Amino acid sequence: MQKKITIAIDGYSSCGKSTLAKSLAKKINYIFIDSGAMYRGVTLYCMRNQLIENGTPSTEKIINLLNEINLSFEYNTKTDKADLFLNNENVEELIRMPDVAANVSKIATIKEVRQRLVEEQQKMGVNGGIIMDGRDIGSVVFPAAELKLFVTASNEIRAQRRFDELIDKGVQTTFQEVYDNLVQRDELDSNRIESPLIQTSDAIVIDTSHLTREEQLNLAYHLYQKAID
Ligand code: CDP
Repeated sequence: MQKKITIAIDGYSSCGKSTLAKSLAKKINYIFIDSGAMYRGVTLYCMRNQLIENGTPSTEKIINLLNEINLSFEYNTKTDKADLFLNNENVEELIRMPDVAANVSKIATIKEVRQRLVEEQQKMGVNGGIIMDGRDIGSVVFPAAELKLFVTASNEIRAQRRFDELIDKGVQTTFQEVYDNLVQRDELDSNRIESPLIQTSDAIVIDTSHLTREEQLNLAYHLYQKAID
């Protein structure tokens, strides 16, 4: 039987990490975990429980309530991807909405939130055969991953892709709103004290700006083959 490795995919907001991770996982029959969904799930919980006041998270209260937040994934055969469940409720659609996107990077700065989610993510990966995407996967969650990819694309292209995705879902938003959110999140994610988004020295960069989804997949598959050899 072929060895099952760990693949870490990191990068800026809306750069196509999840799309690439999902298609590669399907091709090589690996588990795919979107770690950003977990930060979005915690954010939705905080929003529902008035734990974010005037855009500022009530950190102490959030830390005290962390044990009340139960996150799990369940595979959805329609989307070929796992849906996120928050306390047994399917919140997959809700966590993708712009109001959650507007708050998530602030919640993701809280050390205790990160510790808790990183612990859960590491448990999911104990047996290998996993592709996880996020911001700190190659640096903190799986520093020993056999293959690390760092995905990038220009701001305009990333914003356009996310805008198209939201419009397709019928969400009311503007290109500018999406663009501004993306820039703000990149800024917060890259400059936070607790496990900021970094490109580790052993990560291979994939710029998806001018690559089709198929080209991205072929490239990632080739890198996977090299990694297992
Ligand atoms: O899909 P998109 O690239 O826009 O974002 P995401 O992967 O859903 O992540 C949402 C937010 O969660 C990010 O902007 C980060 O603030 C946070 N996040 C994180 O801090 N660490 C991770 N491993 C994944 C996400």
